[in-house]
Amino acid sequence: MCGIVGYTGTQNAAPVLLDGLTKLEYRGYDSCGLAVVHDGCIAISKVTGRIANLREKTEDGRLIPGVTGIGHTRWATHGAPTDVNAHPHASNDGKFAVVHNGIIENYMELREELLRKGYRFESETDTEVIVHLIEMYYAGDFRRAVMKASARLVGSYALGIVCTDAPDTVLVVREASPLILGVGVGENFFASDVTALVAHTRNAIYLEDGELAELTPDAIQVYDCSGHPITKKISRITWDIQAAEKGGYDHFMLKEIMEQPRAVEATITPRIRNGEIVLDDVNIDLDNVNKIVITACGSAYYAGCAGKYTIEKLCRIPVTTELASELRYADPLIDEHTLLIVLSQSGETADTIAAMKECQRRGAKALAIVNVVGSTIAKAADYTLYTWAGPEIAVATTKGYTTQLTVLYLFALYAAKALGTIDAKEYKRLLTILRSLPKQMQAALDMNPAIPELAKKYHGSPSMFFIGRNTDYAVALEGALKMKEISYIHAESYAAGELKHGTIALIYEGQPVIALCCNDTVTEKTMSNIVEVKARGAEVLAVAFKDNGKIVSLADDMIFVPKVDRLLCPVVEIVPLQLLAYHVAKENGCDIDKPKNLAKSVTVE
Ligand code: F6R
Repeated sequence: MCGIVGYTGTQNAAPVLLDGLTKLEYRGYDSCGLAVVHDGCIAISKVTGRIANLREKTEDGRLIPGVTGIGHTRWATHGAPTDVNAHPHASNDGKFAVVHNGIIENYMELREELLRKGYRFESETDTEVIVHLIEMYYAGDFRRAVMKASARLVGSYALGIVCTDAPDTVLVVREASPLILGVGVGENFFASDVTALVAHTRNAIYLEDGELAELTPDAIQVYDCSGHPITKKISRITWDIQAAEKGGYDHFMLKEIMEQPRAVEATITPRIRNGEIVLDDVNIDLDNVNKIVITACGSAYYAGCAGKYTIEKLCRIPVTTELASELRYADPLIDEHTLLIVLSQSGETADTIAAMKECQRRGAKALAIVNVVGSTIAKAADYTLYTWAGPEIAVATTKGYTTQLTVLYLFALYAAKALGTIDAKEYKRLLTILRSLPKQMQAALDMNPAIPELAKKYHGSPSMFFIGRNTDYAVALEGALKMKEISYIHAESYAAGELKHGTIALIYEGQPVIALCCNDTVTEKTMSNIVEVKARGAEVLAVAFKDNGKIVSLADDMIFVPKVDRLLCPVVEIVPLQLLAYHVAKENGCDIDKPKNLAKSVTVE
């Protein structure tokens, strides 16, 4: 969701900015633009649609010379995705241009004030107030004007700003929106995330909320919110550049599905030492915890839904899963005896951040399970466990989800041991299964060569049902989300036992029903539901273990899953469903890595 980049150095800025924006494409956007300072002016070029259009319009950046600039990919919130609403936005006097990621909540009142003072607005965006405020406060000191303008803003913002009076300077400000500085030699960069930086430098500075940084080719100076210079630590970016490239696959999503065994291995291996799970830096007083609340959005929430069963079963502590967008406004019953588990691949999801802060305010300690190092959630949590999945570029999460779930399994076993709710034999048995998960995920990838054929059969269906019980239901939730978000087929998940209470009315002749049957405590029950929907004409694609002859004879089609204990099976069971969604979307000619209307990192509410 919105990406920003900036450059100051000796190279022509526009091609650097275009490359950076291309790396941020995966975040999701509908228009884009650049501003470059040159010869006392700021040249701005903006387009609706893809960066390829901007490359064409600027002849790969050659038409806008200059060594200092900012760029933006916009995911429309205030105002339609048009050239005019695209960023950068310029001040009326043409001295300043701004790119912005986030939302200015008080923009209406600021806009009215600025209109009264005679400022002219070109766009419908919330962002435009920022650049006019800067112009209003400018009295020859660029940094001072930006600080004064920022102090008027309420909301979330990562800003990049250029000024004709300081032609080699870029100012950036961060408040509740991701922003990372790239430290180069004779050149410096900023971007919304490290994928846009790694081609140039591995040295990064992570800005905190309220901080402002001044970038020139030879220096970066950071200031706190009162304008005092501060010294920041330079961190090393460890993500390797190939991990952010397709590596021979048609799509990032397929690559990321395929690399899940390796990602889950990377999640598990460093955390098992001498036959014990070791969660460094997690010293939670578990005896003080009387309930666990898991909160997240989208797929991360569904990972929580699956993990809940394992934690509850092993630790005997009540666990609830809450959508972060609901929890934040729910006046939740949370106190210092609540452990909050926060799941987020990006670590920047606005609703998840807000829910976490609200629960911390009420006394809960927050354990974050996050992929992006140094992200807002990782930093604001009381304890953080990284998933170590590497960069996830496809908008639809795959390895993000499975590694989150893996960390929940690690936590469940670790906490059960600490609480004494698991005996040594069961701990050892489950730990052995946990270690085998990468191998089992690989088996799940290998044992379903028929999925592209199944996709050919099912891709034209207007809707699909995903049914299951218990852990299978949790997997059905994620399976259906994967299907709808990338193939645009209306797919819904239902607890199989609920069909009779209404939903079965929707079954028509030929309605595809994906039936998940990997949890042996409820398989027989789900099989009864299969019989019921088949009796009404449904076409059933069952997901089950190979040796379950009864299901094989009942279902019209099969997807196989290697046999894994039900407490840890969801992480394996989801893999063929991701592949199914991928191949159905491919049959339907969808833009798989960048589905319409979606953004990778949902940094606004
Ligand atoms: C779906 C998907 C989203 C995210 C959700 C939370 O494929 O990717 O539903 O899971 O937006 O994102 P994070 O995990 O970054 O907080």
